Amino acid sequence: MKEKLEAIKQAAVEAVKKAISEKEIEDLRVLYLGKKGELTAILKQMGGLSPEERPKMGQLVNDAKSYVEELVLKKKEELKAKATELKLKAETIDITMPAKTRETGKLHPLNTVLDDMIDIFQSMGFDVLDGPEVETDHYNFECLNVPADHPARDMQDTFYLGENLILRTQTSAAQVRTMETRKPPIRIICPGRVFRADEVDATHSPVFHQIEGLVVDKGITMCDLKGVLEQFAREIYGPETKVKFRPSFFPFTEPSVEVDVTCSECGGKGCRVCKGSGWIEILGAGMVHPNVLRMCGIDPDVYSGFAFGIGLDRLTTTRYKISDIRLLFENDKRFLEQF
Ligand code: PHE
Repeated sequence: MKEKLEAIKQAAVEAVKKAISEKEIEDLRVLYLGKKGELTAILKQMGGLSPEERPKMGQLVNDAKSYVEELVLKKKEELKAKATELKLKAETIDITMPAKTRETGKLHPLNTVLDDMIDIFQSMGFDVLDGPEVETDHYNFECLNVPADHPARDMQDTFYLGENLILRTQTSAAQVRTMETRKPPIRIICPGRVFRADEVDATHSPVFHQIEGLVVDKGITMCDLKGVLEQFAREIYGPETKVKFRPSFFPFTEPSVEVDVTCSECGGKGCRVCKGSGWIEILGAGMVHPNVLRMCGIDPDVYSGFAFGIGLDRLTTTRYKISDIRLLFENDKRFLEQF
């Protein structure tokens, strides 16, 4: 019986040593020390022993039990510690790793320039309005003094969506919409996208941007137009900037002008940007044609006004020295990230 006890004890010790999981250890505890365990079972076999041997044997079995018990406990703690250590190791944060960066968006250069322009005109008391990109022939041409058979329609190659529905070729369409809904004094700008069926190249795109300006009130003259545009040019290009009016033609303004500013690159001496002339054309403008006022229900004998249309894209490409207008519309992140 002694040998049997010794064998069971040895087997238990070996098994505990080899155990690698807490679950395994628990199973072993039940197997050897549990109520139906092997060591418990041996106690029950002591009935066949002599009264002298019984207490001795009992003692031996109990010693073996507590020996194994202690071993199991120790092993349990050991395994627990090991598991914690492994877990901690797996969770280690390597603070020398480069941080994950979150990409932030940036303003498109067109929007940066537009924001500046809005600031300037708002400080002069202009409201900012929005107009639809899909326009009717009526607002884009008819009411702007360009009837269906007018040769000036050739000036703007138009995308037609239907017989009377087009993509607006100019933000000037907003002039009529404004005059129909607001009464003078009117002082608004309307920035937005415009569309023309132009060949695409470094300076032309079928989509580009304009900012329309319109002022209508009693006693508005060409001097007011000049004052506003000079102020605008000085704010955008610097205080030394000069403005030049050249006679031109637009069907909805009379007289009409094209407006140049001294080249911001060379200050007017002549360079590559201004093609040697010292001047850069930035907008068309003029006094609102009496026909247009009349068509919008405003009496041209009482009121007068001026309008201008600034090309936003050219302003942006010269400010940032962007060589090709197409870059503004391709949305290449490598390009956009530079601003
Ligand atoms: N709409 C004109 C163009 O696109 C510009 C313009 C606007 C001219 C307002 C005069 C007055 O060319």
